[in-house]
Amino acid sequence: MNILKVKTKHEMSCLAADIMAAQIIKKPDSVLGLATGETPIEMYDNVAKRNIDFSRVRTVNLDEYVGLDGANENSYRYFMDTNFFSKLNIKKENTNLPCGTATDLDAECARYNALLESIGPRDIQLLGIGLNGHVGFCEPNTEFVPNTSVVSLTESTIKANSRFYDDISLVPKQALTMGIRQIMDAKHILLIANGPAKVEIVEKAFYGKITPAVPASVLQLHPNVTVIVAEN
Ligand code: PGA
Repeated sequence: MNILKVKTKHEMSCLAADIMAAQIIKKPDSVLGLATGETPIEMYDNVAKRNIDFSRVRTVNLDEYVGLDGANENSYRYFMDTNFFSKLNIKKENTNLPCGTATDLDAECARYNALLESIGPRDIQLLGIGLNGHVGFCEPNTEFVPNTSVVSLTESTIKANSRFYDDISLVPKQALTMGIRQIMDAKHILLIANGPAKVEIVEKAFYGKITPAVPASVLQLHPNVTVIVAEN
């Protein structure tokens, strides 16, 4: 595990953008695993400004809220379209997220599992980390959940996400998320964390015990992980 500590969010974003850009230049038909949240926004913008050819790139996102469709500005489909895909020459059909409005959520999990299987291991998987140690929406648990599943979000996550809503009662309570085995299947994992609030959980996840109570701690077992932490 390569842990890089930088001072500012800007440095973190530039460094992460360099790594993602290098991946696509090296392999123009790369498969990228992508993440949402506040942390990657500047990195996405930085990558988009480089005019890299995304015409052969395919993407799979980590998660989506149950009940929100792509037109909803709090959905992760909307986030990805707005902050990244609309700025690239990527083909929309090559971008994948779980569908939060599927009528049969179990069938949607099965569809996403099959998609991940057919697309093969991601060349790079971008991750953020939640204050409670979640990756994707794999919340603290008594076991590592391997595959895509429907999860109930913890109070800590709902509280953290409420900054994007007028009222905490409007924050979705459930999400579809890629599983831990699927996250670990990526060839290279790039985790970015910004700000003093994340320093403690980064310490716990990457220097502490490997436990499903801190889902990100499992990354200690992955052979190729880069963590960039902005400590400002
Ligand atoms: P954030 O979320 O980037 O908005 O802090 C990260 C996460 O919860 O994975």
